[in-house]
Amino acid sequence: MSEQKKVSLKEYNTFGIDVQAVAISSVTSVADLQRIIQEKDPSELFVIGGGSNMLLTKDIDKHVVHIHMKGYTVVDLPCGENEILLNVAGGENWHDFVLYCIDKGYGGVENLSLIPGNVGTAPIQNIGAYGVELKDVFYECEAVSRANGEIKTFSLEDCAFGYRDSVFKTLLKDQYVITSVTFRLTTKEHKVKTAYGAIADTLKAQGIVAPTIKDVSDAVIKIRQAKLPDPKKIGNSGSFFKNPVISQATFSALRKQYPEIPYYPVGSNQIKVPAGWLIEQAGFKGKRFGDAGVHDKQALVLVNHGNASGSEIWNLALKVQDAVKEKFGLTITPEVNVF
Ligand code: EPU
Repeated sequence: MSEQKKVSLKEYNTFGIDVQAVAISSVTSVADLQRIIQEKDPSELFVIGGGSNMLLTKDIDKHVVHIHMKGYTVVDLPCGENEILLNVAGGENWHDFVLYCIDKGYGGVENLSLIPGNVGTAPIQNIGAYGVELKDVFYECEAVSRANGEIKTFSLEDCAFGYRDSVFKTLLKDQYVITSVTFRLTTKEHKVKTAYGAIADTLKAQGIVAPTIKDVSDAVIKIRQAKLPDPKKIGNSGSFFKNPVISQATFSALRKQYPEIPYYPVGSNQIKVPAGWLIEQAGFKGKRFGDAGVHDKQALVLVNHGNASGSEIWNLALKVQDAVKEKFGLTITPEVNVF
């Protein structure tokens, strides 16, 4: 475990916000993490994984714990004939994990290619893209209590996954650090999911009729690269807002006024409306205020064009929120955690 005092967190958050922390320790084992939890009061600690879902608006007056455990282990427990249970350390980069699976021929996460962040933070918001969510391949995860360092295993049911949601965002918010995740993946007869419009179109354009998991992953990478900014080149946290889920009645009224509004039914009586569309219609796509901006190819993504502060990004988020509220009467809420 390495410790540094008074450090900039610029390299530790994908928005590239330059705030300072009192100290930072990179932990490479569960034992290291337990040691630091036992030494300090929980209120003194601030946990960072891939730093891809946070907006830092001020200096962090805490000791940052950077989750850096690595490794893959095949778990020897009963599973389906064409399945494997793979345990992945929380500090592994998510996309590296996806590429590892493609390389080994493990199916299930190909639609989740190129999502920024780490394996250990993926369950917190049940990451999802192109018709697949983490919960679809989740078997269990291991987490350490921030209060006393005890290890607990969470099953699929325990996690209470929902749209960009889990028990780690609600009942157990800030109470556990996820140290590893076990995935249920396919080893053959993969069930590739290509129904999501953009994937089907991309594969069709390439003349691929029976796509492999690699074909799907490549298509997703292509689609994401065309629409979403690479955090290494331009700071961002992916979707800044969640897509609002509204009642059928609210949606019907809205559709009368805006017949072209895109939508996705959720269950039998609710409708999910793309916040990106709402923001674009409100006139914010590609807008820039100093170095804080709305991405020009996907309005759901806020970007740091260089040296924006966290507060500048947050002020822009509030402006966007107000404009959507005023035009459509809908409240869009951040998906990103704001500190
Ligand atoms: N749209 C616009 N203008 C925009 C952006 C989108 O009109 O600026 C429209 C699109 O034309 C389309 C609809 O909105 O009709 C949906 O757009 P898209 O397919 O890009 O998906 P999204 O709802 O904007 C969600 C996830 C993304 C994920 C994509 C693909 C959320 C909050 N975001 O975005 O996740 O990659 O679907 O599955 O659910 C992330 O969480 O960081 C993320 C990128």
